[in-house]
Amino acid sequence: MSRIESPQFRAKVMSPDQAAGFISNGMNVGFSGFTGSGYPKAVPQALAAQIQTAHEAGQPFQIGVFTGASTAPELDGALSEVDGIVFRMPYQSDPALRRNINQGLTDYCDIHLGLSGPLTAAGFLGSLDMAVIEITAITPDGELIPSSSLGNNLLWLETAKQVILEVNSWQSLGLYGMHDVYYQPVLPPHRQPIPVVAPGDRIGRKTLRVDPSKVVAVVETNAPDRNSPFKALDAESKLIAGHLLDFLSHEVKVGRLPKSLLPLQSGVGNIANAVLAGLLDGPFDGITSYTEVIQDGMVDLLDSGKMTVASATAFSLSPQYAEKLNADAANYASKIILRPQDVSNNPEVIRRLGVIACNGLIEADIYGNVNSTHIMGSRMQNGLGGSGDFTRNAYISSFVTPSTAKGGAISCIVPMVSHVDHTEHDVQVVITEQGLADLRGLAPRKRARAIIDRCAHPDYRSALEEYFERAQRVANAQHTPHDLATALGWHVRYLEAGRMLP
Ligand code: COA
Repeated sequence: MSRIESPQFRAKVMSPDQAAGFISNGMNVGFSGFTGSGYPKAVPQALAAQIQTAHEAGQPFQIGVFTGASTAPELDGALSEVDGIVFRMPYQSDPALRRNINQGLTDYCDIHLGLSGPLTAAGFLGSLDMAVIEITAITPDGELIPSSSLGNNLLWLETAKQVILEVNSWQSLGLYGMHDVYYQPVLPPHRQPIPVVAPGDRIGRKTLRVDPSKVVAVVETNAPDRNSPFKALDAESKLIAGHLLDFLSHEVKVGRLPKSLLPLQSGVGNIANAVLAGLLDGPFDGITSYTEVIQDGMVDLLDSGKMTVASATAFSLSPQYAEKLNADAANYASKIILRPQDVSNNPEVIRRLGVIACNGLIEADIYGNVNSTHIMGSRMQNGLGGSGDFTRNAYISSFVTPSTAKGGAISCIVPMVSHVDHTEHDVQVVITEQGLADLRGLAPRKRARAIIDRCAHPDYRSALEEYFERAQRVANAQHTPHDLATALGWHVRYLEAGRMLP
């Protein structure tokens, strides 16, 4: 049976190639897609082929690409391989796109995920000419059942001048009922309080709506979301997870957290997944999550009954877990809620719920400033993602990282970060495999002591000690002692030693 039950939408079914023909040079296109789930699979690849043909004929053809967050090789990868993206926002993690950004071929605007939709709707980033949105099905009365991510889809559908829909029959029909699409005025002054007072609250609709007159094409696909498997848990990530879990147990013991903790936000990546795995064997029951992405570890927690409900905007699952979720989506819909990203990442809600945030970093400095995005201050890795939305507003904001990178050649604890994403005012806890520094309530010198003593790798501890002592001498008794020449030289030393990344 067709997934497109509405006759007026069925009449617009066409090939990906024909649909891509509605997109032309200079357009801004809002694509669905968030951390490798729910992105359109066919139209971007057809578009990439058309861009390549245009370039071979000497014609300019580049577009602005707006998404929810990172996508996959079929979208960011395919368009970047043909140098088809002139502007990109917000989060990305594709190697070809990263290369183009760092070669100056693509302008990249790294915006807080919770703000990326509203800023676009306000017109600050130019107008949105087209939305290309993956959905699971279209109901007889033209309602759109979303797929494995909601992201910015609602805003793209509302604000784009034209719309292309990709109906992907790989996505389970059991997803119906999992989404909570909250409609409210996008822009001030008429926004209302968002009435989420617990992670499991449903405040919106199950489906998305679109003005049918804007829909220029409907494309049918049948292709899986493409996420990579997580790495097997190694000793280092288990140690990091262990430190965090001990810390949470201590917070419960001293009465600063309830026994079921507070809603957890877990960042992307293997260490975050290790923390979730640690919770599976941990002492906490009745856990909830108010986060951005549902990873494998969270599915295990839901299966075990340790976690009662998980609220996010997207899945970020290994292929094996994506199949598992798809096979049983209707059952998971009672425990998982997918929301628009300006709700999942909304500062107001995060602060009200008292979220415990846990994110990865590239480097932290001895005072607790964190760089999440730039290698050696210049080279963009992925982007800020939602780490700022959560870190700034969490009840407890923590960061997890191995103490060294590149096989020990680089310390992830440095005198002064080469780029700042999260300031010392927002970063409360830093955790490496070496230990945990609780920075809450500490003045700068004590923060430095805690980070050097508890988080730095032994191979780098004496160099950091030396720096700190020197900084105190150079800056006398000033509040946050730095010796700028040496601080900046720390990174330069790596460059000169030829240890810098390619
Ligand atoms: N100096 C130089 N390179 C470093 C480094 C450092 N201090 N720390 C890490 N790297 C390199 C790694 O070697 C690796 O390089 P490679 O890709 O060439 O192998 C790369 O950076 C990524 O590091 P890795 O350890 O694989 O990262 P991760 O999967 O744990 O992710 C972040 C760490 C910071 C990149 C990731 O958490 C991120 O993108 N954060 C920002 C967004 C975010 O927090 N989102 C969640 C919000 S909900």
